[in-house]
Amino acid sequence: MARTRVIVDTDPGVDDAVAILLALASEELEVVAITSVAGNVGIDATTLNARRLVELAQRPDVPVARGSARPLNGDPQLEVSVHGADGLGDLVWDEPQVPEHELDAVDLQYRLITEAPTTIVAIGPLTNLANLLSRYPQAESLVERVVIMGGASFEGNVTPAAEFNIWFDPEAAAAVAAARWPMTFMPLDLTHQALLNDEDLAHLRGLDTAVGHRVAAMLEPYALFHDEWYGNRDVIMHDATAVYELIDPTAIEKQGVAVTVETGGEHSRGATWFDRRRANSNSTTTVGVTLDNDRFASVIRERLARFA
Ligand code: RIB
Ligand code: CA
Repeated sequence: MARTRVIVDTDPGVDDAVAILLALASEELEVVAITSVAGNVGIDATTLNARRLVELAQRPDVPVARGSARPLNGDPQLEVSVHGADGLGDLVWDEPQVPEHELDAVDLQYRLITEAPTTIVAIGPLTNLANLLSRYPQAESLVERVVIMGGASFEGNVTPAAEFNIWFDPEAAAAVAAARWPMTFMPLDLTHQALLNDEDLAHLRGLDTAVGHRVAAMLEPYALFHDEWYGNRDVIMHDATAVYELIDPTAIEKQGVAVTVETGGEHSRGATWFDRRRANSNSTTTVGVTLDNDRFASVIRERLARFA
C-alpha cells in the first residue's frame, strides 16, 4: 500500500495530541515532520508539546520544527486555553530529549515538499501555511494536498461567526483558502460529529499504557469544559478528523466547494463561507459533511492501542 507522506502543522492542544498520535500509529501515513504554530497556547508551549508527543509515541525519528509565534496581523489573542495552561491538560512531563529541528517550520516544510509529494495536515491556525506560500510561492504547486481542521458552516466557537483556527489568523486563512492546491476543510459542523465519550476514555485508561493513561488524563479537563459548555462530557475530536480522512478517505462524506474567509467585519471577522452551489461540485477544494461516530471512535481506540 502506498503510504501518504504527511506534515502535521499543529498547536497542541489536547485534540491535536490525539490527532498526532493517530497519525503516528497509522501505517497508511508516513509522518515526515511536525511543525508548531501559536494558537491554543504560545509558540514555546506548542513546540514543547509537539516534542513531548513524539517522545510519548517513541518516535524520535520525526523532526519537530518551530513555527510562527503570532498571526500575520498582530499579537496573539490567547484566550485562557481550554487545553490547560501548558496546552496538554497540565500533566507532569519529563523534559523531552527530542530536540527542535534547526530549520524553522516553513523552511522544513519547503525542504520536505520539494523531496516528494507531501500532504500537509493543518490543525492549528494557518499562519505557517500562509508564510510557506509567501516565502516559497512555488509551494502552491508542489504541495500534494492540504487537509485543514478549520471553519464553520453555521456557527463558530470563538464568536458566533468564527471557529478558533480561522479566528486566530483570518489573513492567513484567507491566503490559504485562495491557494490553488487541492484542499479539504473539516469545519465544526463536521467535527462535532467526532466524539469520544467517558467509555472511550475508560477504554484508553484500561490499555494500561503510557499513551492510554496520558491521553485519558489530558482529555479530562477538556471533558469538564465540554460539560460546562455543551452540557455533556463527550469530547469533540476536532483535529483527529483531518487525520482520519487521510487514513480512510471513504470515512467522511465530502462536497466540492469554494471557500472564502472574512477578514473585515465588526462581528464577522474569521467567518468562513463554504459555497456548495452546483458550479463548485467538481472543485479540487472539498468540505467534510458527515462521518459515523461509532466508526470514528473505534478507529481512535484501535490505533491508540498500538502504542506499547
Ligand atoms: O476550533 C477547534 C480548533 O481550535 C482545534 O484545532 C483545537 O485544537 C483548537 O485549536
Ligand atoms: Ca489544534
